[in-house]
Amino acid sequence: MQFPENERLGEILFTSAQLRERVFELGAQITKDYAGTSPLVVGVLKGSVLFLADLIRAIDLPLQIDFMGTSSYGNSTKSSGVVRIVKDIESTLKDRHVILVEDIVDTGLTLEYLLRVLKLREPASLKICSLLDKPSRRQADVPVDYLGFSIPDHFVIGYGLDYANRYRNLDYIGTLELGPPPQA
Ligand code: IMP
Ligand code: MG
Repeated sequence: MQFPENERLGEILFTSAQLRERVFELGAQITKDYAGTSPLVVGVLKGSVLFLADLIRAIDLPLQIDFMGTSSYGNSTKSSGVVRIVKDIESTLKDRHVILVEDIVDTGLTLEYLLRVLKLREPASLKICSLLDKPSRRQADVPVDYLGFSIPDHFVIGYGLDYANRYRNLDYIGTLELGPPPQA
């Protein structure tokens, strides 16, 4: 893909084959852990959409899906720490086994807030499944029950993850570099 001026792919962290394999493993684990139930899989828009689409096809259970939207970073790569629900779940959570699906846990502030809000609706259980985790940036202590990969503190794009709402359609995950290219 063509990158705009002053934006470059750093390195590819996970190829589409690596993502597929890990997502398949997570789906198998969830299938085992939730045997005999019909979980409600809730994606946090928009970053989790590609991950969720692949994950639910790897879960062999009569599940349902729903989505919620939170305010994002705007066009910056740093968290504002301010969370706003811009689209709420349509399903009733009461007595449901809920799996909240995120693209990445960074500071943890988004998830901390969402967990607090969703617990008030009295689900039978509430667990978190995140494709990526940046543990070195954590400010809020949130449990990630199902994790794809831990990564170092780099801003990443692709497979749903964006910079300024772009790059979500890359089929790999890579680091983004900003600024003028290094002189040869
Ligand atoms: P947190 O509240 O700091 O944990 O932020 C979580 C949200 O920030 C994620 O759901 C992403 O939408 C976004 N985010 C954090 N790090 C990255 C990144 O490296 N690339 C793209 N989005 C990111
Ligand atoms: Mg997000």
